[in-house]
Amino acid sequence: MKILVIGGGGREHALVWKISQSPLVDKLYCAPGNPGTAGLAENVALRVDQLDELLEFAKVNSIDLTVVGPEQPLSLGIVDLFEANGLKIFGPSKDAAFIEGSKAFSKDLMHKYNVPTAAYGVFTDLAEAERFIDQTGAPIVVKADGLAAGKGVIIARTRDEALDAVRDMLSGNAFGSAGSRVVIEEFLTGEEASFLVITDGRQIIPLASAQDHKAIFDGDQGPNTGGMGAYSPAPVVTADIHEKAMRQVLRPAIDGMAAEGRPYRGVLYAGLMVKDGQVKTLEFNARFGDPECQPLLMRMKSDIVPVLLAVANGDLAGLDIEWHDKAAVCVVMAAAGYPGDYRKGDAIEGLEQAASLEDVYVFHAGTSTRDGSCVTNGGRVLGVTALGGTVKEAIAGAYAGVARISWPGVQYRSDIGRKALDRV
Ligand code: AMP
Ligand code: GLY
Repeated sequence: MKILVIGGGGREHALVWKISQSPLVDKLYCAPGNPGTAGLAENVALRVDQLDELLEFAKVNSIDLTVVGPEQPLSLGIVDLFEANGLKIFGPSKDAAFIEGSKAFSKDLMHKYNVPTAAYGVFTDLAEAERFIDQTGAPIVVKADGLAAGKGVIIARTRDEALDAVRDMLSGNAFGSAGSRVVIEEFLTGEEASFLVITDGRQIIPLASAQDHKAIFDGDQGPNTGGMGAYSPAPVVTADIHEKAMRQVLRPAIDGMAAEGRPYRGVLYAGLMVKDGQVKTLEFNARFGDPECQPLLMRMKSDIVPVLLAVANGDLAGLDIEWHDKAAVCVVMAAAGYPGDYRKGDAIEGLEQAASLEDVYVFHAGTSTRDGSCVTNGGRVLGVTALGGTVKEAIAGAYAGVARISWPGVQYRSDIGRKALDRV
């Protein structure tokens, strides 16, 4: 088979890494890819939003299966376009990806189908938003309705901070048109988990549990990022929580999408808040999480290609996914300044030394090549990921890799996986 992976981040490097191990694959492409995917696939110089050019590429090169990593092309309708042209593609349609593309839609879906979530309101008017904020009280959470690369969520500690965030978003200054509607919701406490499933719209295969670390600094301090590290399995997802997540969240959401005429196929990612044995849903994403994908795919024992293909064909019957009985931890190394304006073009040292460690794999995200060497070129630069017999061993492995890599101003959290250790 010929497979095309769309995207160029750490998640896509992990997908390429996993797919490249399948005996079913003869040729693998990645558009646009990054210096990490270049070693495993042929990179194609197309951006993820160049839908017509991607379609043309897939046709000309007789691609048998396209796998979409990021949300943007899904929300632009890449799946609809490829399918209309008779091409197989893994991911939700534009209508189905709306579950991530609009937080207001997502919250209304949860409300309608009794998926547990925080109390909320949807606003386009500042005065109405202000009334809701005054009724609910701070802390309170303000979210841009549209896509904002994981950064459109403000946890406001005071009423005035919340109002400032709403004003910023509604004025279009903060997130452009993505912020022209806002969701304001009750602040939830508890421990977060990333609960991902693969579905053909009816049948659901849950992936192993995972936990992300959204805040930039240790101890979950500082602004939220796209994710500074992740591990799997996540002990917060006990057998009981798993059962509740499937019954109360994933099953009704997937059935609800079908009932709404937006049948969902692909990966559905539920961001959960777990507290006192109960789950509440923070959000849905229409794709693999980044960086959750990196440790999840390192732990995946089964060939992923038959599963991706079955979803593209609309029937998962008879398939399951086996997991290595090991833990995996991914530590994200980010550029100076991230998640704000960040530096680019710093030379990265130590990549080979890190890669030579056993059970350690360095996934590239924001890197590029300059004069034959690797330089920083994005906010999240690398995801150093390790397998270990226990979470503790995997943490040690990942940080051994991190210790070998450096560039000026590099930042990473030193507590990835600590919550898992606190529970075992
Ligand atoms: P979202 O993109 O909606 O998942 O929000 C990103 C992050 O913001 C989540 O992973 C949480 O860390 C935080 N967050 C979102 N909604 C809430 C909430 N209602 N209460 C507390 N934290 C939240
Ligand atoms: N790591 C969080 C996300 O992919 O949305």
